[in-house]
Parts: sequence; C-alpha cells; structure tokens
Amino acid sequence: MGVLTGRTALVTGASRGIGRGIAERLGRDGARVAVHYGRNEAAAKETVTAIEAAGGSAFAIGADLAAPGAAEALWEEFDRHADGLDVLVNNAGIGSTRPIGEIEEADYDAVFTVNVKAPFFILKHGMGRLRDGGRVINISSGLARTAVMPGNMAYSMTKGALDVFTRDLSKILGARGITVNSVAPGIIDTDNTAELLHGSPDGWAGAAALSALGGVGAPAEVADVVAFLASHESRWVTGSWVDATGGSLT
Ligand SMILES: NC(=O)c1ccc[n+]([C@@H]2O[C@H](COP(=O)([O-])OP(=O)(O)OC[C@H]3O[C@@H](n4cnc5c(N)ncnc54)[C@H](OP(=O)(O)O)[C@@H]3O)[C@@H](O)[C@H]2O)c1
Repeated sequence: MGVLTGRTALVTGASRGIGRGIAERLGRDGARVAVHYGRNEAAAKETVTAIEAAGGSAFAIGADLAAPGAAEALWEEFDRHADGLDVLVNNAGIGSTRPIGEIEEADYDAVFTVNVKAPFFILKHGMGRLRDGGRVINISSGLARTAVMPGNMAYSMTKGALDVFTRDLSKILGARGITVNSVAPGIIDTDNTAELLHGSPDGWAGAAALSALGGVGAPAEVADVVAFLASHESRWVTGSWVDATGGSLT
C-alpha cells in the first residue's frame, strides 16, 4: 500500500525527463498514472512499462499541447481510461533561449502556448474531473525568480505567469480542499538541458557552480518534492512556490 493507493494522477509531459521521473515516483506511491506525451508515444509507453515493472499501474495518453483545442483533446483521451482525477501535474514545457533582440513572435507564441496557455485550459476543462481534496502541481522554474539567464527571458516569463496561475487558482479550488502549488527546479539533467550541460566541456561544471549544493539535479530530486505535495502530508500547503533549485537562488 502506497500513500497514493486508490488515487489517479495525470502527469503532462511524462514521456521523458522530469515528467517521467514524477510519473514513476507517483506510480511507486500507488497512484494509477496517466502518462501524457506530445509526440513521443514510444517513450511514453516506456514510462508506462517502467511503472508497471515496479508494480504500479499506468496508461499513456497523447495530446499536442501546442495545437488549438489541446486541453479538450487531452481530457477526451483521459476519459477513455479513467473517470476522475486526484493529482494533476502540469509538467510539459519547452524552453526558449533566443534573447529579446533575436526572438521572433512565433517563438514567443510557442513557448507561451505550451507553458502557460495549455495548463490554464487543462484546468478550465479539467476542474470538474478533479475530485475534492485533490492536488494540482505546476512545474515552474528557478528562472522565474532570478535573472541569471536573461537570454531565456521569454521562457522565464512563462514560469512567472504560471506562478500567478498557481496563486490565484489556489483561492478558487481551496473551497473544495484542493491544493495548488508550484515546484521550481533549478538545472536538471534532461533533454531540455542537454546542449547547456553537454554541449561544451565546461557546461556541467558551470551549471553545478550555480547551485549551493554544487551539483546538477536529476528528475528524481524534483519528483520527490512533487510526491510530498501530492500526499496527504501537504494538505495545509497551498498557493506556494517550492524551491527545488538545490540552492541556486541563495
Ligand atoms: N530541465 C531543467 O533544467 C528544468 C528546470 C526548470 C524547470 N523545468 C521545467 O520542467 C518541465 C519538464 O522539463 P524537462 O527538462 O523534463 O523537459 P524535456 O526533457 O524536454 O521533456 C519535455 C516533456 O514535455 C512534453 N512536451 C513538450 N512539448 C509538448 C507539446 N507541444 N505537447 C505535449 N507535450 C509536450 C514532451 O513530450 P514528448 O516527449 O512527447 O515530446 C516531454 O514529455 C518543463 O516545464 C520545464 O520548463 C526544467
């Protein structure tokens, strides 16, 4: 029996990286996990297989969060497998590394569509599916609170918007006992950061030097924080921004 036995969780962007780490952790905690993906169905199925191999239960659902009507498409897929939800993790996201002098409107629109518009409409259409006492966890970023990478400004702005969403949504869903929190990772070793960490000989060391703990995080380090916020133990924590940057903001 895990702390989430009998619960259903949906993790967006769970085919790879941090989302996969979160899905596997919630699966180990006993939740039945909806493993959402955009394009990588095969990778999502690997996440499902890993959860099942650890004794858990999971299913994959696909929806391109950059497409119009994405949230409705996601819930339509979800409804084929489950009849309600206890934990929603808005994790899917893309980066933007083009500075303000170079970025095109299409790049700006793309990062805001996936990182802000998608979670907003997933909640608009999904609030009714969330059971009372449930959990919403939005994956933000330390970059919402530090200007250490101003070239990523459009991306950082999306996470600032997501944090406002967290704050205000906590007031709307609080009456139903549903908590809403942001978790902000620092630099985590995933496909998203492959160029930064592995694209130059000193990339890893430079990233590690930003952290008070002197390292680069792994998806499991974020997943453990999410697991706490998904659990009963976090019931009095809502509207908050949880720093999971390894001390990169100190
Ligand atoms: N890595 C870091 O250092 C770091 C730091 C702070 C915050 N974060 C945040 O953590 C979250 C996960 O990042 P990550 O590093 O794990 O990223 P990642 O390895 O690049 O994985 C991104 C995930 O999001 C999904 N996704 C991307 N675009 C999508 C779309 N249009 N429609 C549906 N799904 C889409 C991908 O699905 P497919 O596989 O199907 O493409 C994949 O599962 C993001 O919100 C990111 O901003 C990451």
